[in-house]
Amino acid sequence: MTRGWLLTRSEAAGASSGSEASPALDARLADLDADDALGGALLVEGAVGDVTVDVTHSSLNFKDALAFNGNRGVARISPLVPGIDVVGIVTESHHPRWRAGDRVLLNGAGAGETRHGGLAERAVLDGGTLVAVPASLSNARAAAVGTAGFTAMMAVLALEKHGVPDGDVLVTGASGGLGSYSVALLAASGRRVVAATGSRDHVDALRALGAAEVIDRSELDRESKPLESQRWAAAVDAVGGRSLATVLATTAPNGAVVACGNASSPDLPTTVMPFILRGVALLGANSTAAPLAVREHAWGRLGADLEPSMIDSLTRWVDLESAADAAAELLSGAVRGRVGVTIE
Ligand SMILES: NC(=O)c1ccc[n+]([C@@H]2O[C@H](COP(=O)([O-])OP(=O)(O)OC[C@H]3O[C@@H](n4cnc5c(N)ncnc54)[C@H](OP(=O)(O)O)[C@@H]3O)[C@@H](O)[C@H]2O)c1
Repeated sequence: MTRGWLLTRSEAAGASSGSEASPALDARLADLDADDALGGALLVEGAVGDVTVDVTHSSLNFKDALAFNGNRGVARISPLVPGIDVVGIVTESHHPRWRAGDRVLLNGAGAGETRHGGLAERAVLDGGTLVAVPASLSNARAAAVGTAGFTAMMAVLALEKHGVPDGDVLVTGASGGLGSYSVALLAASGRRVVAATGSRDHVDALRALGAAEVIDRSELDRESKPLESQRWAAAVDAVGGRSLATVLATTAPNGAVVACGNASSPDLPTTVMPFILRGVALLGANSTAAPLAVREHAWGRLGADLEPSMIDSLTRWVDLESAADAAAELLSGAVRGRVGVTIE
């Protein structure tokens, strides 16, 4: 028996279109070996991947919460085992890079969106997308870091590669998973970090992560002029919308902003002025489509740079049964840091 979450569109849900939430989505904890919706076929090795993994841990990301909520822009197949993060131990491999007993992790690459993900006891994965769990991290801590920490590291690497002037670095959506890891990694690399949050309750925790200053998100989530007084040398943005437009308008000449998320909005109501008059660079980060070399480089840095106690302080753990309830809580915006899922 292989227990796992299964998201299935009902006929009523199938009649609607687009990426809007679909209340007709059925989410249930099922026996994936026997479930009628899966037909016993989709977890068969060879059909969908060449490495079979006993999943020990997963996590809940904003994307997973959207999938549980029926968002068809995330849950793109039906039925779907959700979970964009997978950490576990290889039990069988037909891929030259992996053998039984290896500890592996996967962030995205379609998991939990276009193919089955990590919220199940077993996963059959494409060996070409897997990364070895760094020796310094347990499986639990690798899942706790997950896509949020991986994307934060991608953003830090993008800023390092671009090169940014001295000065403050802003992080928006700072008390979320991506934001928290961005604050911690930037502070650890020696930058003075300004954290923007809508959660006054989380100010002390953000300072403990390394934020030198905490501002209210309302300072950014407002109508802004195309150019305003310069406040930061760089930014990592998890929020999008008016907030990102204000961040661009307040970034210093030759600074850079990494757009990572759209927790507020996918819109970007700005003009070309920050780019052509201040030389501000707008950079992207896409964890899902990251090439293997980028995954390995980022996880090498995460393994070297992260303090285990910091990872633990950011993580609340739930069991597989509680994943759907925890996903709903995440979508409400009430969660600080990360939610790990224990599966073993
Ligand atoms: N590009 C990528 O590869 C990638 C990877 C991971 C995540 N993401 C995206 O990044 C975003 C954050 O992901 P996550 O997993 O860190 O989510 P999360 O843990 O739920 O954190 C989101 C945070 O955004 C802030 N927020 C929520 N609603 C907001 C609103 N209406 N306006 C302004 N801020 C709001 C909150 O922080 P405060 O309370 O501190 O304001 C919240 O904690 C999501 O859009 C996600 O899809 C992208």
